[in-house]
Amino acid sequence: MTPRRVCIVTGGGDAPGINAVLRGFVHAAAPDIEVYGSRFGFEGLLEADGVVPLPVDAVRGILHKGGSVLGCSTRLYPFHGTLPGQWTPDDAAPAMVARLKTLGIEALVLVGGDGTMRAAHDFCTLGMPCIGVPKTIDDDVGGTDQTFGFETAVETATRAVDALHSTAESHRRIMVLEVMGRYAGWIALTSGMAGGADVVLIPEIPYDLQRVLAKIEQRARLGLRFSIIVIAEGAAPLGGSILEIEKGRPGHLPRLGGAGARLVAELQAADHASDVRVTVLGHVQRGGTPCAIDRMLGTRYGAYAAKLVRDRDYGKMVCLRGGQVEAIALSTALADRKRIDPNGEFVAAARSIGIELGQ
Ligand code: F6P
Repeated sequence: MTPRRVCIVTGGGDAPGINAVLRGFVHAAAPDIEVYGSRFGFEGLLEADGVVPLPVDAVRGILHKGGSVLGCSTRLYPFHGTLPGQWTPDDAAPAMVARLKTLGIEALVLVGGDGTMRAAHDFCTLGMPCIGVPKTIDDDVGGTDQTFGFETAVETATRAVDALHSTAESHRRIMVLEVMGRYAGWIALTSGMAGGADVVLIPEIPYDLQRVLAKIEQRARLGLRFSIIVIAEGAAPLGGSILEIEKGRPGHLPRLGGAGARLVAELQAADHASDVRVTVLGHVQRGGTPCAIDRMLGTRYGAYAAKLVRDRDYGKMVCLRGGQVEAIALSTALADRKRIDPNGEFVAAARSIGIELGQ
C-alpha cells in the first residue's frame, strides 16, 4: 500500500522550539505517514527542489537547536502581496496545491503565527487540507493559551532586565529596554514582572508620560535614583501611534522599531536631571537554544498534529487549553488575537505591586 504523505511548512519568522515541533511530528507520524518539508517557508512550495523528504533520521539531534532546520521566510505568503517571479496572489497558491498533489501529498501542516494560520484556512478552501501549529514569540495567536517560542523569549528578556538593573543602579540611570511584541505586550509584561521592572509599557495600554515621570520621581524621593522601564515595540503614548520603520503592504506586516528611542526622547525633554539609555533587544529574543518549556510544548504540538493527520481531522489548529493540548477549528483561532486584558488579573497584579503601566 502507498504510504500517506504530508508536507510540513514553517511559515513566517522563526521562534525557539520549531525544531521540537518538526521532530515531534515526524516521530509521531512514523512509520505509516511519510513526512516532507518545505524549505524556507512557503518559498519551497514554488521551487523545484523546495520540498524535501523529512525522515526520522533528518530530525535526530535537533531538539536543542534554535531556528528551523527547514529554514524560514517572511518574504512570501501565498495568498497576498508581491510574489517572486511570475507569480501572483491568484495563481501561486493553486500552483502550490497542484505541485503538492503531483507529489502525492494529501495535507499541509503549517507552523506559524496568525498570517500562517490564515493561509492554512485559505489552503483548506482550495482543496488542500491543513493542520495549523501556533508559533510566535509574541504569544498573540487566538484560541491557544500559549504559542511555543514565547517562554524562551521571556527568559532572554528577563535576563536583560536583570543585567540592566546592576548598571542602572551603579550609574543612577533610567534604563529603557525595548522588547518585541507588535500587538500584544506579553513579553514586556512577563519579563518586566519577572525582572522587577518599575515601568512596563504595552500596546494594549497607551501610556501617559506624566505617569512614567511620576514613578521615576517617586523612586528618587525614596533614594532610588535609577529605574528600569520595559517597553514593547508596539507601545505608543496616549494620542500617539505605533512607530514603523518599514510600512506594511499586502502580505507583509509593517516592521516596528523606535518605541524605546521615542520614550527616551520624551523623558529627556521632560526630565533634564536624569541620565537615560535605551537597549533594543531585537532578534536576540527569537534566536538561541529553546528553553525546556518550548521544547516540550513544541514536541506536544508536533505529536498532536500527527494524531490529527492520522485521524484526517483537518481544518484544525492545535492549541493548549488549561494545560491540555487539543485542537480547535482554524476559523475559531482566527477570530481573535490574544492580547492582554487591561482590566484583567495580570495587569491588576502588576499594578498592585507598584509597576507603573502608563495609565
Ligand atoms: O511576530 C514575531 C516578531 O518577532 C515580532 O515581535 C516582530 O515585530 C517581528 O516578528 C519581527 O519580524 P522580522 O523578523 O521580519 O523583522
